[in-house]
Amino acid sequence: MELRPYEEGDLWLARALESDPQVMRDLGGPTLPEKILQHHHRRAKSVRDGDVWYFTVLAEDRSPAGTIGIWASEVSGASIYEAGWMVLPAYQGRGLATAAGRELLRRARQARQFKTIHAFPSASNAASNAICRKLGFVLAGEAFFSYNGPPQKLNDWKIEL
Ligand SMILES: CC(C)(COP(=O)(O)OP(=O)(O)OC[C@H]1O[C@@H](n2cnc3c(N)ncnc32)[C@H](O)[C@@H]1OP(=O)(O)O)[C@@H](O)C(=O)NCCC(=O)NCCS
Repeated sequence: MELRPYEEGDLWLARALESDPQVMRDLGGPTLPEKILQHHHRRAKSVRDGDVWYFTVLAEDRSPAGTIGIWASEVSGASIYEAGWMVLPAYQGRGLATAAGRELLRRARQARQFKTIHAFPSASNAASNAICRKLGFVLAGEAFFSYNGPPQKLNDWKIEL
């Protein structure tokens, strides 16, 4: 597994991930094509400008297999940093997201840029909750907000770096 900065050429990957009903099941459902395009360009530009931490997860054969990042967010009026991850169905279940999360946290610790990072999987998202636990996040409570679609109840995991 390797991380490389997310880039303009990753549009196909964003489309494959964010329009997939299985990948988006716990994130409010597939994102509309025009939104994917908008989010993609904004994300790639923010990475180029150094404003956001967003990486493409490369599998062992160096094929792009997912994305992972840390971004600023607002939850219940508080400014926080949130981490999120996605892996293409064909690459799931082989430890890629866990390895990517470890590498992301290693880089974040080294950069000393973040004090606390949150992650918000829904209670039904077994894989993502397992990743939080394995990476050393602690379950801090619940949060209520929306990704796509209506607000939903989410687990609020956090880690102090
Ligand atoms: C969450 C996600 C990134 C995990 O990717 P992955 O590369 O398959 O994860 P890993 O292989 O590192 O597995 C992580 C853990 O989840 C478990 N797991 C993987 N898929 C699972 C599934 N479908 N159901 C239950 N547990 C699962 C693994 O067994 C592993 O735990 P373990 O080591 O204790 O056995 C992937 O399922 C995904 O893209 N989901 C949709 C997007 C999403 O919900 N992102 C998280 C938003 S908070």
